[in-house]
Amino acid sequence: MKSDLFRFPGLIDVHTHLREPGGIQKEDFETGTKAAVAGGYTQILDMPNNAPSTTTPQALDDKIVRAKGRIWCDLGFNFGAARESAKYFKNIYKKAFGLKVYMNQTTGPLLIDKFADQDLVFKSWSGKLPIMVHAQDETVEIAIKLAKKYKKRIHVCHTTTNQLGPIKKARREGTLITCEVCPHHLLLSRDDLKRLGPLGIMKPPLLSKADQVKLWDSLDLIDVISTDHAPHTLGEKYDKLSPKFGVPGLETALPLLLAAVDKGMVTIERLIAMMSTNPKKIFCLPEQPNTYVEVDLSKKYQISNRGLFTKCGWTPFIGMTGTGKVRKVVIRKKTVFSDGKFMDKPKGQVIYPN
Ligand code: DOR
Ligand code: ZN
Ligand code: ZN
Repeated sequence: MKSDLFRFPGLIDVHTHLREPGGIQKEDFETGTKAAVAGGYTQILDMPNNAPSTTTPQALDDKIVRAKGRIWCDLGFNFGAARESAKYFKNIYKKAFGLKVYMNQTTGPLLIDKFADQDLVFKSWSGKLPIMVHAQDETVEIAIKLAKKYKKRIHVCHTTTNQLGPIKKARREGTLITCEVCPHHLLLSRDDLKRLGPLGIMKPPLLSKADQVKLWDSLDLIDVISTDHAPHTLGEKYDKLSPKFGVPGLETALPLLLAAVDKGMVTIERLIAMMSTNPKKIFCLPEQPNTYVEVDLSKKYQISNRGLFTKCGWTPFIGMTGTGKVRKVVIRKKTVFSDGKFMDKPKGQVIYPN
């Protein structure tokens, strides 16, 4: 069978939930970074909404210690905003990347929904890295207002249709604003909910088909594609009383987006910009010399739950067609992953802002 090898730069995901500590029944640093590498990622940033949340220098240091020697790709950490965490910001600028501010309720207890607290957090952050906002729908307007007021850089997480207008306007007016979209909003829609049931619930929720088309039509406005890899066990997803929000995505993003390239919906160059070059610039990620990912673009296959490295063991994209098999992942000259197998031992590094 002929192969068609394409060399990508290492992909970067600035928005993953690795769940350690506190949620290691569904993911941990080892399984999560394996899932990342199998998906073509060589640098990822972890989110703070595990338990205990990453809102103190101690919690951040604990993650750094736990990760050492156990991670298959490079891993950095985002810090969590809480009213009580603002006093620590100045201590963590050298160790953490973005500041994540949850302005709506989602997984975990981190929520800043009072304007006085939001104001305090925006005012207190003087890091050069962006404030990453979970700000669904009109909440994004508050984030933009505060970014303007305090001249802060913001990064809008998991952008959906009704945020496009405010983002465009803010950018025109000179606000320092970047934004990301997630593969699940681009490739699944509300129509899939019947089939997926609770496996299809996440925050922000899946879009209508019409809104999904609008999101694709606005891709020029989007800086980054992030997975928002948010694994939960099947038991947690099917829980009758409070099913958890979120879907895994590290292993499926690249093949699904390459299938979109096949359909002419986006170019490979744009994907590389959104999945590597732009996140690296926006989050001041360190260089990874001699790092690349070889993908066999001739392979087309059905996405399935079999062979996934994520501990949760399922994907909402099951049955969809993916293009491209990750053949080899090389980080700093060392082959880490080759034809489905991990080599040697984990040599990923904990990373800090440049
Ligand atoms: O669906 C989601 N899952 N949205 C979030 O904002 C959090 C995430 C999670 O951590 O499970
Ligand atoms: Zn979020
Ligand atoms: Zn998230």
